[in-house]
Amino acid sequence: MAREYDLTPQLVPRVETRHRRIVTELPARASLAVLEKLSRYEPMAMRGQPPIVWDRAEGFQVYDAHGNCWIDWSSGVLITNAGHGRREIVDAIIGQASAHLLTTYCFPTAIRADLVERLAGLLPDPLKKIFLLTTGSEAVECAIKLCRTHGVKAGGRSKNVIVSYEKAFHGRTLGSQQAGGIPALKEWIVNLDPGFVQTPFPDGFRTEDTSFDGFLRALADQGVEPSNVAGVVMETYQGGSAAFAPPQYMKSLRRWCDGHKALLVCDEVQAGFGRTGTMWGFEHYGIVPDLTTFGKGISSSLPLAAVAGRADVMDLHPAGSMTSTHTGNPVCCAAALANLDVIVKEDLAGNARRIGALLHGRLSAMKRRFPQIGCVDGKGLVAGVACVRPGSKEPDADLAWDVIRHSVQKGVLLFSPVGFGGATVKICPPLVITEEAMNESLGAFEEAFAEATVGQEALAGRV
Ligand SMILES: Cc1ncc(COP(=O)(O)O)c(C=O)c1O
Repeated sequence: MAREYDLTPQLVPRVETRHRRIVTELPARASLAVLEKLSRYEPMAMRGQPPIVWDRAEGFQVYDAHGNCWIDWSSGVLITNAGHGRREIVDAIIGQASAHLLTTYCFPTAIRADLVERLAGLLPDPLKKIFLLTTGSEAVECAIKLCRTHGVKAGGRSKNVIVSYEKAFHGRTLGSQQAGGIPALKEWIVNLDPGFVQTPFPDGFRTEDTSFDGFLRALADQGVEPSNVAGVVMETYQGGSAAFAPPQYMKSLRRWCDGHKALLVCDEVQAGFGRTGTMWGFEHYGIVPDLTTFGKGISSSLPLAAVAGRADVMDLHPAGSMTSTHTGNPVCCAAALANLDVIVKEDLAGNARRIGALLHGRLSAMKRRFPQIGCVDGKGLVAGVACVRPGSKEPDADLAWDVIRHSVQKGVLLFSPVGFGGATVKICPPLVITEEAMNESLGAFEEAFAEATVGQEALAGRV
């Protein structure tokens, strides 16, 4: 259900610590004019996030123009893996912009060649051809197109089914939204393509059966002939919960796809570029997909996305038939190259692993303390904290919203709840966060969780 945070400025306790500073009412009274302008001129669908108007951001901190500073647990929305405002990325953007080459459509540039070579060098075989795009949704659309093209070539026109996962999110365009597994988001499509089917995601919490049989059963129940499957598209971890599938399941899925000439697509728009403690999220499974989609953390800044894949699949379409106006935009390529340098040189995947161990250790302890936490999922520097009514798996969106409100008031910035029932608090700081800042923000988050649960109990008349 759509909801919004209250825009009435509230007095909140002053916070002044090493990494956080909250010194105004929230939302800051002085920011209301901007929020009101946005309400007037943007569609309502753009609302719904904590009402903080950003002014600048550096590393793992976000500042407003009114003296407040947050430890960022959002990375925008999992974009700034290398940290906000990285000097190296800013310099690369300025350098490219100063070279007076701001756009190219599909004309080649040296920097486009450098970027695809660099990405191919970082990816395992056979993911050696790269198509640059602009948004994650666009990359998913392209992967769907490649799956169907490959399917029809391998098995005729009936081999067109795209299997994806319940509760998945792959974007908001016509194809990517249908690959998603959230029915409410697809109502606008009206005439759903019967060639998109979903199967339960084996997360072990909402779907207790994590065996590969669940996949086979779901196909059989929906009358899908395995020989008609063109591709299986999955988020490497589910964005709504941060849940991974069991490696054994993924190995079975890899074999099944090979056996049925179906392409396996890992959507790494969230999981790529070090986020989960490895450069690519699919490394946790010990498999390599046929296609991957990237976005968000690929540049830690400007809009850029990519599809990477097997050469025989990427070359299915003839010259001139896969284009996009901003493909290989030189300024975005410069940002991405600098971003990749930072991620590799500073071993940010390693940092995500180390600081992620701290994060997940503390969240597990919180789960033992609070019966309102149904499940904690994720790896590295991504975590999902599923809020539930104690003693059940019923999602508690009110609690999740309150936890986030209290956290933001304490100087820890999170985006609104995501996932099943809108009740999952998603934690995804820039990968440059330090141990000290992680400990500090976890302390504040735990206080926020305790306050929110007391608030909920008071509302229910239990205290
Ligand atoms: C896994 C995944 N795929 C695709 C997308 C769509 O990306 P974009 O918003 O850049 O179109 C998202 C966005 O959140 C995502 O998380």
